[in-house]
Amino acid sequence: MSRLRHMMSPLDFSTDELDRLFDVAGDIEHNMGAYAHACDGRIMATCFYEPSTRTRLSFETAMLRLGGKTIGFADASNSSASKGESVSDTIRVISCFADICAMRHPKEGAPMVAAEKSLIPVINAGDGGHQHPTQTLTDLLTIRSLYGSLSGFTIGLCGDLKFGRTVHSLINALSRYQNIHFIFISPQELRVPDYITEMLSSKGITYEEVVRLEDVMPRLDLLYMTRVQKERFFNEEDYIRLKGFYVLDKAKMQLAKKEMFVLHPLPRVNEISVDIDDDPRAAYFRQVQYGLYVRMALILTLLDLTDEHMNEGLLKTY
Ligand code: NCD
Repeated sequence: MSRLRHMMSPLDFSTDELDRLFDVAGDIEHNMGAYAHACDGRIMATCFYEPSTRTRLSFETAMLRLGGKTIGFADASNSSASKGESVSDTIRVISCFADICAMRHPKEGAPMVAAEKSLIPVINAGDGGHQHPTQTLTDLLTIRSLYGSLSGFTIGLCGDLKFGRTVHSLINALSRYQNIHFIFISPQELRVPDYITEMLSSKGITYEEVVRLEDVMPRLDLLYMTRVQKERFFNEEDYIRLKGFYVLDKAKMQLAKKEMFVLHPLPRVNEISVDIDDDPRAAYFRQVQYGLYVRMALILTLLDLTDEHMNEGLLKTY
């Protein structure tokens, strides 16, 4: 029997393992029908202690598209957490019901605590302001598919770089690829945490920190926009002051390269004008689609089912 594996951080997989995961996701994109029964008889539990639309629905759709079924809760007040149950106990119980679990929690590290007691694979679906590995897998697959490579580009990350867990996860993951230059675009108050810039410096990876998006726009190959994370602010006034800081609109897009892609983990609030949704460089809705493929591939990988189901042609390449 294969070893029980979890996904707490994108770094849990080597870059070779990620390549293989993205190959499976690519195969799913082109041969979705071939996977329709890959998880027949399997159950995924989605345990969401914090609001979510696309992540939870994306996991549930992924399992349903693989022929499996889903159980779970979308609101902690509907679960035994409201009676005081610990995540360790909850996961022991869920382990008796389901084959795999995706967990989102407002407390950093909670899915990790669950994984330590779990008898089934646990996927961190976002823990506080810490990590959001499956969004990162989504972002990496989108970059690999649209830009064509996971190395050799200048990426701008713009908005709430302090609280945005998708940003922290993505920078960590990209730090393992070659020749990537980071430009962090944020107000002073929302700068990327020091532990991240220290990690980049220690690896000799170049980065800049700037406040004005317009100044760096012409140099970007990829622009990763984020919303200001209202729920992590202590003070409503600060949130209101900062939320309108960046609005990507047609005028700013005119400064960009013709082939620069705009990504966003969504939900968007006001940081990208709807006027640019039809711009071919606006890739955020395509990104959602890639998120489905990569979650399907991750479920198959953690359940150790990839080899049985990948299409013949792709399997031969291994
Ligand atoms: C992100 C998250 O939950 O961190 N959303 C998502 O899962 N796509 C980004 C956000 O909420 O801003």
